[in-house]
Amino acid sequence: MIDNRTRRQSDSLRALFDTLATGGREPIVEIEDWRDHLAGNRRLNRSGVGRWFMTALRHEWMPLDIPTPLCAALTDDATSYLETRPGPWATVLGHILRVAGTAGWLASQRGIDEETVYLTALYHDLGKLDEWDTGVPHAELGARYAERDLTGEISARKLLTITEAIRVHPDRPPPSWLAARALHDADKLDKIGATGLIRRISKMEDIEEACLGADRTLYEAETFPRPCLAASTALLQPKLAFARTVERLIDEICP
Ligand SMILES: [Fe+2]
Ligand SMILES: [Fe+2]
Repeated sequence: MIDNRTRRQSDSLRALFDTLATGGREPIVEIEDWRDHLAGNRRLNRSGVGRWFMTALRHEWMPLDIPTPLCAALTDDATSYLETRPGPWATVLGHILRVAGTAGWLASQRGIDEETVYLTALYHDLGKLDEWDTGVPHAELGARYAERDLTGEISARKLLTITEAIRVHPDRPPPSWLAARALHDADKLDKIGATGLIRRISKMEDIEEACLGADRTLYEAETFPRPCLAASTALLQPKLAFARTVERLIDEICP
């Protein structure tokens, strides 16, 4: 038996899921894009769930600090490239930029070269949508795109660090690969919490699919691997608390 308050919260969460499920092809990428998108839903505004979600999102979403002019130029190129891809390009681009922001913060905490980490994050999922067409794993495609664009632009040693980190990123990297460890943690952290709901639900088309995406995010929070870097723990805890709140309400909206 659930009380009226829980029912109202669950209804509001359902409206949130519905609003997040854009299909991933509209240009909703940055945090302010999401603020504007959610602000258009009167029901979310009335219930306060939109504000609650934006507060969590602002807490989790690390600002994107683009370390060098080369990184800035390649970010523009990556954005233009993804915009031409069929499929949920905005979901992929948003994820890449959030991972770059988080990985950059981890790099600054751990004294890892910020350009190396930024470029690793930028290319790690750049081949995500091409994987479906080509059958080549996106980690391999991302490494190839990085080799294509970065050869001659940065040292061979730095390029190798980047491509190895990209190739291994679906798995846990060896302890000595610091850039790969920053990417690993930033990538996994983006899949849970409020950013996790954006990541999983924004590419969905309707509320039924959105529920599957939310379930997956909760499962990922439940089974979250031990972070590779100690600094990641500070980012992990609020996301796990957010997941517990969503878990309490989700059964009512995603039976
Ligand atoms: Fe990936
Ligand atoms: Fe990723």
